[in-house]
Amino acid sequence: MRALLCKTYGGIDDLSEEEVASPKPGPGEVRVKVAACGVNFPDTLIVAGKYQFKPDPPFSPGGEISGVVDALGEGVTAVAVGDSVVATTLWGGFAEEIVIAADKVMRRPEAMDPVIAAGFSMTYGTAIHALVQRGALKRGEALLVLGASGGVGMAAVEIGKALGATVIAAASSADKLAIAKEAGADITINYTDQPLKDAVKEATGGKGADVVFDPVGGDFTEQALRATGWGGRLLIIGFAAGAIPKIPANLTLLKGCAVVGVFWGDFVRREPEANRANFDRLFAWVADGTLKPLVSETFALADAPEALRRLAARQAVGKLVVDLTK
Ligand SMILES: NC(=O)c1ccc[n+]([C@@H]2O[C@H](COP(=O)([O-])OP(=O)(O)OC[C@H]3O[C@@H](n4cnc5c(N)ncnc54)[C@H](OP(=O)(O)O)[C@@H]3O)[C@@H](O)[C@H]2O)c1
Repeated sequence: MRALLCKTYGGIDDLSEEEVASPKPGPGEVRVKVAACGVNFPDTLIVAGKYQFKPDPPFSPGGEISGVVDALGEGVTAVAVGDSVVATTLWGGFAEEIVIAADKVMRRPEAMDPVIAAGFSMTYGTAIHALVQRGALKRGEALLVLGASGGVGMAAVEIGKALGATVIAAASSADKLAIAKEAGADITINYTDQPLKDAVKEATGGKGADVVFDPVGGDFTEQALRATGWGGRLLIIGFAAGAIPKIPANLTLLKGCAVVGVFWGDFVRREPEANRANFDRLFAWVADGTLKPLVSETFALADAPEALRRLAARQAVGKLVVDLTK
C-alpha cells in the first residue's frame, strides 16, 4: 500500500510517499481502507517532533480518517468488515490502510460524505469539548473565537451558534471574516488592523466576552485576555502563531476570570463515554443541517505535503482534506 512517511523528525519537505507492507490487525484492532484523511495543524507539529504525541519514525502523519473496515483482529465483534467508519487516529492516516483499536472507530453517518466526514472529528470534537466541558458556554453569552476561519475556529463558530451564543469572529483578513460570517458569526473583527480588546469591548457594550476560544496563541492571547469580561473563561486551545504566550496573572484577578486548558486527545482517552455523547450531539446537528462543515480543497496523497504547507503558511480556510480516491 502507499503511505506518506516521516522517516525522521524534520520538516514537511522531508516527507516521502512510499510503498510499504499492508498492516495486519492484532487482537482488538481493525484495519481500515482509508477513503480520506483530514489535514490539521498538529500534523505540521508531529512531523517536527514538536507535538504532545511523538510516534517513533517511520510513521505516517494524518490524525483523522474516514474509510471502510476491511479486516478484523481477534476478538472484535462490535465492528464488521464493510462498515463505513470515521476515526481519530492522531497519526497514520496519510496512507491507503491503517490499523487502529476497534473501540476508536465510530460509524460514519450515512448522509455524511466520506471527504466531509474525514475532516470532521478532530476540529468539531475539540471545539465541542472546549465550549461545553471546559468553557460551560451558556445560551445568550458572548463567545469570541480567534482564528475563526481555520479548522477548529470555524467549528467553534458553528457550535457556538448551535449552543445559542452571540459569536464574535476574529481573523486576519476580510476574506477569512466573510467565511466566518457565512458559518454564522454575528460580529466580525479583523485583529490585524485594530486592537482586539477595544473592538470586543465595543461589540459587547463594554462588558467583554464571556468565553474566548484561542487556537492562535502568541501576542493574541494577552489581547484576548484583556477582551475577556467579568467571570469569563479564556480557553487555551493551541498556538498556531508559534509562540507560547506568558500572560499577566493580575488580569485574571481583576476580571474574576479563568484561564482554562483544553486537551481533546487526552479527554478522548480518559473520558470516552463523554466524547461519544459529544459526537452523538454533533452528528445530530449535521443531520438536521445545524452544522455545515466546510472542506475548501482536497488533495491527492502525493500532494499532502502541499496541504500541510498551506496550513503552516496561514493560507487555509475551513478544512483541507487528503482524498485517497484521487
Ligand atoms: N487543544 C486541543 O485539543 C487541540 C486539538 C486540535 C487542534 N489544536 C490546535 O489548534 C490550533 C489550530 O489548529 P487548526 O487545525 O484549526 O489550524 P488552522 O486551520 O491552520 O487554523 C489556525 C488559524 O490560526 C491563525 N494563525 C495565526 N497565526 C498563524 C500562523 N503563523 N500560522 C498559521 N496559522 C496562524 C490563522 O488564522 P488568521 O490568519 O485569521 O489569524 C489560522 O486560520 C493548532 O495550534 C492546533 O495544534 C488543539
